[in-house]
Order: sequence, then structure tokens, then C-alpha cells
Amino acid sequence: MTLAEIEQILQRSVDQALSALGAATTADELEHSRVHYLGQKGFLTQAKKSVGQLATVDDKKQAGKLVNEADARLRKAYDDHKERIEAALREAELAERWDVTLPGRRSLRGKRHPLTMTADDILDVLGSLGFMRAEGPEIEHDWYNFEALNMPREHPARDMQDTFYIDDDVVLRTHTSPVQVRAMLALARPPIRVACYGRVYRNDHDITHSPMFHQVEGLYVDETVTFGDLKGTLQVFVERIFGARSKVRLRPSFFPFTEPSVEVDLSCFSCGGSGSGGAALGDDGRCRLCKATGWIEIMGAGMVDPEVLRFGGLDPDKLTGFAFGIGVERVAMLRWGVPDIRLFFENDRRFLQQF
Ligand code: PHE
Repeated sequence: MTLAEIEQILQRSVDQALSALGAATTADELEHSRVHYLGQKGFLTQAKKSVGQLATVDDKKQAGKLVNEADARLRKAYDDHKERIEAALREAELAERWDVTLPGRRSLRGKRHPLTMTADDILDVLGSLGFMRAEGPEIEHDWYNFEALNMPREHPARDMQDTFYIDDDVVLRTHTSPVQVRAMLALARPPIRVACYGRVYRNDHDITHSPMFHQVEGLYVDETVTFGDLKGTLQVFVERIFGARSKVRLRPSFFPFTEPSVEVDLSCFSCGGSGSGGAALGDDGRCRLCKATGWIEIMGAGMVDPEVLRFGGLDPDKLTGFAFGIGVERVAMLRWGVPDIRLFFENDRRFLQQF
């Protein structure tokens, strides 16, 4: 063979090989033409052999270069096409498994529980008024829960709260008021201005009572704290929680640990205090939220009984204070019109999602 012949064969065969490789649509077909053109019996191997038989060194050099170029070109073509076939295969497999036209799945986002939101709001308002956070145990000594709050053993006032007893001296706290005494003893020096949020327990259950519920307690003791301060604090509180038009009304009441004691009423935010019309309209045109009275009871409060100050290690001749206790579930139920307290504790996402 001459150099010219080798050149001719190479050119023709490379063209053939390129179109054959390019036409392969599966890995098998591609491998088949690779063996055919680039394998032991392929034309390239033959051409390499012929190079050695050429007459002159120059021809051998020249031909060797041509063969190597052809070899490199074909291997690259082979590799490229192999890559394309594999990519097409991967895509085909994916298309089988994934329907990209399906709607996406929403990921679930966590959020605060409505009771947490309500408590946080209450604590924010109290915080802005200078109340510091305080805490106490849910499993409480009888002494803090009752005795230090003017309810000695056998005192009939204990009947107001259906108590879960752990033993004779230990109870599940029935209110957050024991934290009043704990805070006075711990802080010892006025001004004492604390807010306590937490769980409380009473043996009681229906659609507005749960054996476990939450309260926020407020306590303010200082040298000149008056009933007027209590009223002012409560007014700011209801405006911030229930809206600027809200009003408070205080009714005489009784708690062993405050004197005087009051029930705090909130002007009905549904009928605006008129007792009729509004969003909670009954069939008879009267407001169902306040039972047409124009007022809704929201908490207990009063001036700290001097005896309780004494139990808290403070001097009632020098100091006065007020305290109040709010039911968090009650506030949340009013705010959002939740009809049944148990909904808060069932953890049904259809309910919780709505807040
Ligand atoms: N601890 C009382 C209750 O749970 C509420 C209250 C707190 C009343 C503070 C007066 C002062 O019923």
C-alpha cells in the first residue's frame, strides 16, 4: 500500500464509521459499531499494520499521524455519542417514575398554638407595663396554694376550687396565685411587679371547663399602690387585648386573698355593650355573647389582703398591692368565638390551622 491509498481508505472509513456510530440508538448498537470500526479487525487496526510496510520513513511518519488522528477522532465521537445515549436513557427512566405535571405537595408549616398566642399577647401587654415574668411549680405545697392565701385547712373557701390532692400536703395548683407568695418571698423588696403564666388544675370538666387550663396572674406591690392603679392597669389591658373601645366594669366579689375583691367585666365587643345586634346575634335579636347584658366576665382581681403580704414576708403597714388572675382559655374562646374548650387540647390540625 502507498501513503495515498492509506489516506484514501482512512478518509472513507472514518466517514462511514462516524455515520454508523452516530446512527446507533442503543448502547448495544453503539458497542457493535465500535467493535466493527475500532476493534481488532477494524480498518484502523489494519491501517496501523499497513503503516509499517510503507517504503520511506517520511511516509511512515505521515501515515502514522493520519492514523492516530483518525483514531482520536473516532474515539471522541464514540465517547460523545455514548454520553448522549446514556443521558437519553436516564431521562426516559425519570419520565417513567415522575409525572412532572402533578401539582406540588404543600409542606406543612408549624405555628404557635392559639393558647400560646393568647398568653404571649397578654404577657406582652403586661411586660410593657413593667411586669416581670415569674414562675412556680404546678405540683404545689398546700401552704402556698391555700394557707398563705388565707385559706387554712377546713376553710369553706377551699370548696370554690375542686382540688386534685397528691397527698395531705401537696396539690396540683388550682390557680397561679401561689406564685404571688413565692414572688414576694423571693424578691423580698418592693416594687414587686410580676406576671406568671402557667397550667392550673381543677377537677371540673364541661364545654367551658377543662381539668387542666391556663392562667396569667399579675401582682403589683409597692408603697403607694391603690385600687385606682388596678383599675387603670385593667383598662389598658382590655384595650390592648380586646380593642380600643373596650371598657371595664368592676363588681364586688370575694376571694380570701384579696380585700376588696372584684369580678372584672369587659364591655361586650360583639354588640358594643348594647346587648342587641352585633355578630353574635340570636334569633330574638339579642346578643348571645353577653347574654344581652352588654358585659362579659373575664377575670378576678382585688387588693392584696394584708395577711397575704405578711405570709409573703412583707410589712402590710408599709406596703399595698393589687393582684388579678385571668383564664387564658376564656380569653381565647372570647376572641375567636371558640365554642368548646376541649378543642384547644385535641390537637386537631383542622382546628389549629385556623388561627
Ligand atoms: N386565683 C383566682 C382564681 O383562680 C383569681 C384571682 C387572682 C383573684 C388574683 C384575685 C386576685 O379564681
